[in-house]
Amino acid sequence: MSTLKRILTGHRPTGPRHIGHLYGTFTNWKALQDDYDCFFLVADLHVLTTDYEHPAQIGKHTLEMVTDWLAAGIDPQRSALILQSAIPEHVQLSMLFAMLVTVARLERVPTYKEQTKALNLKPSLGLLTYPVLQAADILLYKAETVPVGEDQLPHLELTREIARRFNQLYGKTFPEPEALLSSTPRIPGIDNRTMHTSYGNAIYLKDTPEETTRKVMQMYTDPTRLRATDPGHVEGNPVFDYLDIFDPDANALDETKALYRAGKVGDVAVKEHLAQVMNDALAPLRERRQQYAARPSQLIDILNEGTGRARPVAQETLQEVMDKMGLNTHTVLKALADAIVPQGVFC
Ligand code: TRP
Repeated sequence: MSTLKRILTGHRPTGPRHIGHLYGTFTNWKALQDDYDCFFLVADLHVLTTDYEHPAQIGKHTLEMVTDWLAAGIDPQRSALILQSAIPEHVQLSMLFAMLVTVARLERVPTYKEQTKALNLKPSLGLLTYPVLQAADILLYKAETVPVGEDQLPHLELTREIARRFNQLYGKTFPEPEALLSSTPRIPGIDNRTMHTSYGNAIYLKDTPEETTRKVMQMYTDPTRLRATDPGHVEGNPVFDYLDIFDPDANALDETKALYRAGKVGDVAVKEHLAQVMNDALAPLRERRQQYAARPSQLIDILNEGTGRARPVAQETLQEVMDKMGLNTHTVLKALADAIVPQGVFC
């Protein structure tokens, strides 16, 4: 049994990961494996809260996402990769937690408000209880630290409230988990909007060097610059945001920026350089990716193994919670039965 503190985090399997996930999220996850017992959750049940009409996608997206996690350096020898729907205790615990949260509280969750507005849908009960399921994901394993992006902070707050409420009512059981925010560098999409799969502006971890180069050459740069001899803007220019991350030679990059500002280097030359340093930086990841993609059965084994490691922890917590909430308590039932049987009630 590991004595390290436990981390739990995860993603909904919505498709392949992009380089916006790599810096900020995966580099952070990878480093955390040195100091924590890490559980990485494939939150497939959460996908259904909005996307229940496309069941065939979930399995495919799960394999793509897990391949990207492994390519990015998640080490299955040390960390558990868990398939949420394969452990029924996630759903069971979320139902028990649902007793401790009001509908009004859930209706105030900002992600819920935004999503119902953006999707213009009549929200399902499942969507409303999304953060309760997420609280169950975290507390089922008594995780103390949850590395997430800022958008997930309202869900973490609700998780802490549920933990606190449970502990007050039934005695100390859960830690109040802390969010661990990563400092995310600015990685816009190739059109300078937020990088997002649905915008068609992402560079994926699965992209080949040629695809990556092609996308870099199409990238938005400084719109005020009509000729290579015009002075250029480095700030707010995604080409330079990317170079800040990918160019290993900071001094040479400073010189390139000075030349660009002075109108002495063209966009094409700068982009060719960017494609080169990006492809160099991504080469080890692509190599790992290929090894996993070539043998999908390995992915299944890894998910099975990680899920198997998590299951006994989940079962123990659920049993503890049920006992404390007065359900299926073997000791209580037995004492009752012993008291009642002599009077013939059970006969
Ligand atoms: N809601 C998270 C997201 O959209 C995914 C998620 C589900 C999660 N369960 C979790 C994240 C538990 C952290 C911990 O990215």
